[in-house]
Amino acid sequence: MWWRNLILLGDCLNAVSYLQKEYQGKFRLIYIDPPFFSGTDYSLRRKGEPKNGHAPNVTEKTTYSDKWEGGLEEYLEFMRARLEGMKNLLSNNGSLWVHIDFHVSHYLKIVLDEIFGYQNFVNEIIWKRTNSPKTQSRGFGSQHDVILLYARDIAEFRTNPVFRPHDITSLKPYSYKDERGKFRLIEIEAQGIQRSESRKQFEWQGRVAPYLYRKETLDDWWDNNLIYTSRNCRYTKKQYLEDMPGVQVSDLWFDIPPIQGSSEEYTGFLTQKPLLLLKRIIESATDPGDLVGDFFAGSGTTPVAACKASRKWIVCDSSEIAINLTTSRLENIDNRGTYELINLGIR
Ligand SMILES: C[S@@+](CC[C@H](N)C(=O)[O-])C[C@H]1O[C@@H](n2cnc3c(N)ncnc32)[C@H](O)[C@@H]1O
Repeated sequence: MWWRNLILLGDCLNAVSYLQKEYQGKFRLIYIDPPFFSGTDYSLRRKGEPKNGHAPNVTEKTTYSDKWEGGLEEYLEFMRARLEGMKNLLSNNGSLWVHIDFHVSHYLKIVLDEIFGYQNFVNEIIWKRTNSPKTQSRGFGSQHDVILLYARDIAEFRTNPVFRPHDITSLKPYSYKDERGKFRLIEIEAQGIQRSESRKQFEWQGRVAPYLYRKETLDDWWDNNLIYTSRNCRYTKKQYLEDMPGVQVSDLWFDIPPIQGSSEEYTGFLTQKPLLLLKRIIESATDPGDLVGDFFAGSGTTPVAACKASRKWIVCDSSEIAINLTTSRLENIDNRGTYELINLGIR
């Protein structure tokens, strides 16, 4: 089916209402990286060419302001109105990912609980965004951002499992070996707090224990030689290294490095996020052909990652500089498809 991606220039409140009629319930994923209530003005930093052996000039243009005269209250009302509109654009199996940091993550969690319902909160993801936090005399330097993940409807929401490559620590438990190869041991009996009074014990292969799995599942593993018997006759399940594509990623994302000034993808946009971060989010929450949105698109990381992953996209930003950066980044992407730029008017 013919499809045209969209870039909307303007306040995302207008963008969200502009899209309500045609795109309500159509977005599988919306990722946003809004202003963080940081009290700072942000700019685009560009280096010129070195001249006559002199260091190049660096120019800076303000892209957006994250200063709020009305304080936290004004900021939260700004976000609430826009988040409400975004929720209506999500499909029943869709999700919203809100990228934020310590300044307002706890306040926004409450606003999001009110809009989406506490039961639809899925994860608080911690992304380690820098290796060198600022030193400070009080407290501790901040090194992470927070991504709050909400499902439109938790009953309908699924993610594709994501794996990161093995490292020395994750390979350590694979210290057992048999004719099939290296394996580690997985508990099949309830441990610690899982061992509640209400958990039923039953007899299996001569041992009575509070098993975590049904008898049929255990029998199946037994028949397939996947059960390991220890010297004191305790059973565990073998997990072979060759069956694991890597380590399944948890809510701690320490393996995606921040963008360096020298990195190829760096545009000079000071709050630009890495493509790898968006790749992970898009690939876990959507399938090829799904529609992805970003209403605070900045330098255009989301549409670039969406193109590379063969997803459709609609994005918005209120800054002309950000939109120009997005279109010029897209020019270098082979798989970008067609897109239309619509000016909704700037404030
Ligand atoms: C943190 S940056 C996004 C960075 C982006 N994730 C990237 O990788 O480049 C926030 C963006 O929100 C935009 N913005 C601020 N207020 C907005 C509004 N009301 N509507 C749309 N965009 C807005 C700013 O212009 C800025 O580009």
